[in-house]
Amino acid sequence: MFCRRTLQFRYVGDLFVAQTDSREGGIVAKTALITGVTGQDGSYLAELLLDKGYTVHGLIRRSSSFNTERIDHIYQGPEEPERSFVLHHADLTDGVALVNLLRDIQPDEVYNLGAQSHVRVSFDAPLYTGDVTGLGTIRLLEAVRASGIQTRIYQASSSEMFGASPPPQNEKTPFHPRSPYSVAKVYSYWATVNYREAYDMFAVNGILFNHESPRRGETFVTRKITRGVARIKAGLQDRLHLGNLDAVRDWGYAPEYVDAMWRMLQCDTPDDYVVATGEGVSVRQFLEFAFEHAGLDWAEHVRYDPKYERPSEVDALIGDASKAEELLGWKPEVKSRELARIMVDADIRLLSDQLTGAAVRVDR
Ligand code: NAP
Ligand code: GDD
Repeated sequence: MFCRRTLQFRYVGDLFVAQTDSREGGIVAKTALITGVTGQDGSYLAELLLDKGYTVHGLIRRSSSFNTERIDHIYQGPEEPERSFVLHHADLTDGVALVNLLRDIQPDEVYNLGAQSHVRVSFDAPLYTGDVTGLGTIRLLEAVRASGIQTRIYQASSSEMFGASPPPQNEKTPFHPRSPYSVAKVYSYWATVNYREAYDMFAVNGILFNHESPRRGETFVTRKITRGVARIKAGLQDRLHLGNLDAVRDWGYAPEYVDAMWRMLQCDTPDDYVVATGEGVSVRQFLEFAFEHAGLDWAEHVRYDPKYERPSEVDALIGDASKAEELLGWKPEVKSRELARIMVDADIRLLSDQLTGAAVRVDR
């Protein structure tokens, strides 16, 4: 099922880059561009592609403080003679920068992971979310056209698009988005399908259900819980304030999910895939898993705060990923109880390192 590529060499900036088909046993040195490379998924995907021999270019946005914590361990400075990981300042709100970047890099694969990705925040910043998470995608697709390059595009679509449609959800389930974030993601989903149909682009949607890791942003519920567990265990806090505990999510492990993204771009034909574990767990159950693992009783520490409720909630997301299993050969190993253990252990280690002043890496 993997795609054939012919051997080519070319200059990208100061890099001499080779590409070939891995099935022919030659050098594998494809080039990829990742938007959102500083995020949870971007950092794991960059590692995966570097391991496969890719030259990886990452789009980062300018920040007044360092925003590269998740990728510092793979950073290669401009002084390194044969860099395979290169960062570029740009932004999904700046279409011209995207055209220039694509023209210079000429990537074989583009992974569009950049987004304002927080659902609750999207109610506070709906226009900004629409601009980055919605229009950002069409800017990137147009930039591919304008730069005249041949490339394969992965769009980070989301199970949030299913919203109010009851589980189990698969590729045929109708979308019923319940937030400005998911409305923007539906726009991006259809833009990707439209560019595939209209311009014959190899553009695919990965409809990923929630996936987490020790690198998950601290304000998403799983990480908020596991970080809270570590701090409660260490005596640094006593209470954890949360919103709706009844919501059900299908939580998988992020490193496994980026592998599914890559597999989608190696297929002979472009298509859209649901990626999920198939197991639904409530926020309350995840609390139990996480607190129990640290020998704590969650009911003694968790308090309700309506501030964390959403104006419209998504009650239950449970994915049916049988298409990905059948056509991509992708199957998840880590389910939510194991995930909670991995994240609690990592947060306990991270906090201990911070308290003792040891050198800290985010996923230790
Ligand atoms: P994340 O940790 O929030 O990372 C988002 C990335 O987007 C960060 O690198 C962020 O940069 C970047 N970004 C934000 N605004 C940008 C802009 N204007 N221009 C360029 N880059 C911008 O998200 P994630 O969990 O890795 O998710 C990756 C993608 O998958 C997102 O599109 C998300 O919506 C989607 N998704 C995630 C899940 C999930 O469960 N994790 C499920 C389905 C879909 P900074 O580091 O500078 O903020
Ligand atoms: N963040 C957060 N904080 N969520 C809480 C809290 C809290 O204090 N208390 C309860 N929740 C509930 C939310 O109401 C929601 O039902 C559930 O926990 C999960 O919330 P998040 O972890 O913020 O994730 P999400 O499901 O809204 O969105 C994530 O997954 C999507 C895929 O379905 C994000 O990663 C999105 O970018 C992604 O598309």
